[in-house]
Amino acid sequence: MKILAINGSYRTNGNTARVISLIIDQLYVEANRFGETLGFEMVDLGKLDIQFCHGCRICFNRGEEHCPLKDDLLAIKIKIKEADGIIIAAPTYVNDVNGITKNWIDRMAHVCHRPEYAGKCVYLLATVADGPTSHALMTFNMALRTWGFYLVGQTGLKTGALMKRQEIQSRYENQIKKIGRKLFLSIAEKKFTQPSFLSLMTFCIQQRAWQRHIDDSVDYHYWKNQGWLDARQSFYIPHHANIIKVWGARLAGSLLAPLVS
Ligand SMILES: Cc1cc2nc3c(=O)[nH]c(=O)nc-3n(C[C@H](O)[C@H](O)[C@H](O)COP(=O)(O)O)c2cc1C
Repeated sequence: MKILAINGSYRTNGNTARVISLIIDQLYVEANRFGETLGFEMVDLGKLDIQFCHGCRICFNRGEEHCPLKDDLLAIKIKIKEADGIIIAAPTYVNDVNGITKNWIDRMAHVCHRPEYAGKCVYLLATVADGPTSHALMTFNMALRTWGFYLVGQTGLKTGALMKRQEIQSRYENQIKKIGRKLFLSIAEKKFTQPSFLSLMTFCIQQRAWQRHIDDSVDYHYWKNQGWLDARQSFYIPHHANIIKVWGARLAGSLLAPLVS
């Protein structure tokens, strides 16, 4: 099992990195228990060259490989592709994810048009000194669901300005255990084959939008080539979601689609 952690903090040994490392320790405990081999890699967005989006829309119109910004973005995408499970974590700055993380999300905007991460599990984390993390987690949640990920869960942790690793461990011992266990089991049990109502609805809204945008765009051809424009297709990948949930999500998605796309 391969895990990739993406740390959005500039501080490579800050609170966010410490929380990630504690969850990784727990993932190793789970892997040992189940006799699974675990591979782990951490990417620090602050150490990489990820330039600001210029808004030229070339990624949307021609494909991300034509982006004029030649930096580390595509290398991160390869790492995500190779991983089974991802932890994405950011510090909260003024009520939202910090700028480094938001810039990365913006540069990944083409994935909202051409979702490519169905079949991958993600856990979302936000650290904060003492305030709320709901807005930061919502920023993550909206983007990553649209990218096709299976959202295992999301947690905000209050870690002050800089909390010792041991203190984070003792204060959040139970939560960290639960997060590690849940992420491990979600990947091992392929929970992504049971998409949530919201994920099914998101797929339906996107599907309705691209069904109406018949043109020669990269986006349209991507959806067509995946077979996702077929009205019988209810998700990006084969799944075992309950049929009533699927119908409900498709009904809700069809009603909402004209309002949001
Ligand atoms: C520029 C800046 C803005 C911040 N904004 C908030 C905030 O709005 N509310 C809050 O409770 N903490 C805020 N914090 C504290 C961080 O969210 C918190 O210390 C976080 O855990 C830092 O993570 P890191 O060590 O991984 O960078 C801010 C910190 C900085 C440097």
